[in-house]
Amino acid sequence: MADILIAPSVLSADFSRLGDEVEAIDRSGADWIHLDVMDGHFVPNITFGPPVIKAIRSRTKKFFDAHLMMSPVDSYLGAFADAGCDMITVHAEAGPHLDRSLQAIRSLGKKAGVSLNPSTPVTAIEHVIERLDMILIMTVNPGFGGQAFIPAMLSKILRAKALVGKRPIDIQVDGGVTPETAPAVTAAGANVLVAGSAVFKGGTETAYTKNITDIRRAASGNLA
Ligand code: DX5
Ligand code: ZN
Repeated sequence: MADILIAPSVLSADFSRLGDEVEAIDRSGADWIHLDVMDGHFVPNITFGPPVIKAIRSRTKKFFDAHLMMSPVDSYLGAFADAGCDMITVHAEAGPHLDRSLQAIRSLGKKAGVSLNPSTPVTAIEHVIERLDMILIMTVNPGFGGQAFIPAMLSKILRAKALVGKRPIDIQVDGGVTPETAPAVTAAGANVLVAGSAVFKGGTETAYTKNITDIRRAASGNLA
């Protein structure tokens, strides 16, 4: 079983001090930095885009994991690559040409991920599996932090794991991940855990360190 990676989502950070918050989660043990980009069209919320990502790029050396909740997305992929994203994840539901989007991400020299909304089956990505570095299983409906984990997604994680087989493809979960829900998602086969509110609660670096440690411990307890 691969090591568990914790990817705090800056969606729950204090945006007025975003650079400092990124440095704080870096020091607190984050493995990746998860960047939730929302366009107010694909999802009912708006966050930030490439200029903000570029501005915080200098504040950490950690892996930038961009989750693009955008439609259309293809014409913006170059800007996210230039801003310093390492993984670019698009939604399977975001457009009619997922295969083209994934090819474009890899041709920019970046890792390619695909995200599935709760209602989208794993079969939607069966035929693009060879183009993937990561599958993101949404465990809430995208758009907001702090929502409750949807337990029906556990069987989807199992199906994604079966589809992946021995390929070096990460399985990420996003939404409602806490020390309480983490054991089940890793037991089902996920190895990258996104957490927003569960990491940033408390609002201090000491709290972030404890929160990340608690999630990592809970997630690792169930490893075979
Ligand atoms: C939801 C975002 C998530 C969100 C998770 O649309 O993709 O990354 O920040 O927040 P929590 O961990 O609070 O559910
Ligand atoms: Zn996300």
